[in-house]
Amino acid sequence: MTLLTDELKQAAAYKALELVQDGMLVGLGSGSTARFFTEGVGRLVAEGMKVRGVPTSRATAELAAEVGIPIVTELVGPIDLAVDGADEVDPSLNLIKGRGGALFREKLVATASKRFVVVVDESKMVKQLGAGVLPVEVLPFLWRSSAERLAGLGLSLVIRGGEETPFITDNGNLILDVTVEGGIKSPGDFGVELKKITGVVEHGLFVGMTDTVIVAGPEGPKALGRASSGI
Ligand code: A5P
Repeated sequence: MTLLTDELKQAAAYKALELVQDGMLVGLGSGSTARFFTEGVGRLVAEGMKVRGVPTSRATAELAAEVGIPIVTELVGPIDLAVDGADEVDPSLNLIKGRGGALFREKLVATASKRFVVVVDESKMVKQLGAGVLPVEVLPFLWRSSAERLAGLGLSLVIRGGEETPFITDNGNLILDVTVEGGIKSPGDFGVELKKITGVVEHGLFVGMTDTVIVAGPEGPKALGRASSGI
């Protein structure tokens, strides 16, 4: 089962490699699916393609350096293409991301990109977002106050890693994993409500940002979305 899922993740990520062209600045996602893409970009660079990468996490930056991709962290123009995984994808191609904890930089990179392509195995496709937790990144300072405000919206939550040994993001923040009873009915509005809470740095809802989803199932990878041409 694990092997099959890995094969599907790899198939989706390798399909996205077809979009990489010489001279591109490419956003490199985080997580196990995006890892296959970054390794693939490394092979393209080794074959002589001139590509630079913008990593969405320290882990991806290390991997990119390992496989020989030149890294850019200060932008002077848009990123040509960003490729990343997701935890959940709904029929409108809205996403939940961040179960690996890299959601803030992932959102920054996706926002700065001309084309945002999501690579997933078919298990990530859902009818409605919120089947699993929604990660919310909060400032550690007075984080309980942020948590109380989230709870005031009727949400239940846990601090990732537990209070004794909390998970710390690449930005030095905490992650609160939020459960929305009954799922997230209106992701756009809900995301706006979350951002109104002082102390919330970012949340894992990516609404209206995805250009293409490459979803891999047993019949192979297929592209969905308003910009699914070219693959
Ligand atoms: C990282 O913070 C996440 O947003 C990942 O992109 C997401 O969790 C998907 O990860 P996998 O490809 O490992 O499932």
